[in-house]
Amino acid sequence: MPPPSEQAARDLLAFYAEAGVDALVGEVPVDRFAAADPAPTIPAPAPTGEPRRPVSAPAVRQGTPVVAPDEAAMAARAAARSAATLEELRAILDKFDGCALKTTAKQMVFGDGNPRARIMFVGEAPGRDEDIEGVPFVGRSGKLLNLMIKAIGLARADTYITNIIPWRPPGNRDPTPQESVICLPFIQRHIELVNPDILVCLGKPSSQTLLNIKDGILKSRGRWYSYATPARQIRAMVTLHPAYLLRQPNQKRLAWRDFLAIQRELASTPA
Ligand code: URA
Repeated sequence: MPPPSEQAARDLLAFYAEAGVDALVGEVPVDRFAAADPAPTIPAPAPTGEPRRPVSAPAVRQGTPVVAPDEAAMAARAAARSAATLEELRAILDKFDGCALKTTAKQMVFGDGNPRARIMFVGEAPGRDEDIEGVPFVGRSGKLLNLMIKAIGLARADTYITNIIPWRPPGNRDPTPQESVICLPFIQRHIELVNPDILVCLGKPSSQTLLNIKDGILKSRGRWYSYATPARQIRAMVTLHPAYLLRQPNQKRLAWRDFLAIQRELASTPA
């Protein structure tokens, strides 16, 4: 077969980009039909005095967790609990290898804003722009979020912003439930350490993960909930995700109502 022309290669890349495939997960092509056998096991180097135990070949950049999900969730709980400050949490999360998304993301996206803010926004997961900059909500959704924050008389720097998942899922796919479970202890500790007066869940995945809300977002938005940390109950609001508002601009009026309720709540409760 003749090699593809440069134009054909460009067209293919444009097609991939249009379809949201804009991240490389490996350096060489993998024929997954040929790779029907499970990952081979290789013997781990035996530390002195300990028996050898087989371990799976590292699944880095293949989309599977580096450690078993249950083990990863347990490790995440212990690691998150051990963080006494936000800086410690950031460092611990950066070293954590239990979530395979880390292997495909460019970098971790931890949080942004004032760590002593009274209001904390939690989205779903970083997108392409956030992955490049290492800061949450800096793309189109972030610009809209900034405007919404400004509309209630605050600046982004007065708030704290983060996500349930700190690594960008490849091609912006939805995080799997397993990935959310593994990352949950970190966002729980993150909220506990920021300790805001108001927690705002942006979109359904955030409200589902943090508040266990099963209702659709149009039903659950605009209501007050209670989010429990070991130390206290925090008032929590569910609102529409800015990415949804970019697709459905006529729903901005609903988000506006939610933000006004947040503004009233901030004004009525002393700092
Ligand atoms: N969407 C999110 O949920 N989080 C971001 O950081 C950016 C877009």
